[in-house]
Amino acid sequence: MTTSNAPQIKQIEAKASVCTDCGLSETRTQVVFGEGNADAALTLVGEGPGDQEDRRGRPFVGKAGKLLDEVMGDAQIRREDIWLTNVIKCRACVTEDGFTRNRPPKMEEIKACHKWLDAELNLIQPAVIVCIGAPAANRLIHRNFKMTQERGRWFTDTQYAPFAIAALHPAYILRLHGDDFTAARRYLVEDLIEAREKAEDAPQRQQLTLF
Ligand code: URA
Repeated sequence: MTTSNAPQIKQIEAKASVCTDCGLSETRTQVVFGEGNADAALTLVGEGPGDQEDRRGRPFVGKAGKLLDEVMGDAQIRREDIWLTNVIKCRACVTEDGFTRNRPPKMEEIKACHKWLDAELNLIQPAVIVCIGAPAANRLIHRNFKMTQERGRWFTDTQYAPFAIAALHPAYILRLHGDDFTAARRYLVEDLIEAREKAEDAPQRQQLTLF
């Protein structure tokens, strides 16, 4: 019998929630930690929180999150059955002319945040990781990951999981139109279906006990 990871993930989350290891702690509203099932075989990792996530304290709850929910539905994946997280846990943004917009995280911010992702993934030990977008793939698959060439390809024996794949980011898909949008959305659904099937085939964790 093994125990659930839930209490330990809560402890990691509590520590992360007061992290001040990089400058993003000065501009964030709150830390956006991962959520879902900490005993899941399937983990999805995005880039980092945006405006809505920063306000609401949950991953993928903005426009990209709405599309992710839709495609997860098509792939028969429920949020509560997976672990859903990001490479960085605080919003990276820049304010210009009174407007605040997201920006790609800097390497020092990604490095400072790595300990939280590392702690999450080492605890959960997923069978399958889906990197949502190139930044996650660069972090979790290999440093020079090229989405155009390597999307949908399975990588085995990666640092945090026996199987990892990278899929198109819903924020990228939302910038496409017409047939391009339809094709990219379909790729994401297909990649998620494959990931779910692989996770279902993975050896079951030993029966969980709450004690
Ligand atoms: N929301 C997230 O939580 N992560 C992303 O990568 C994009 C939007």
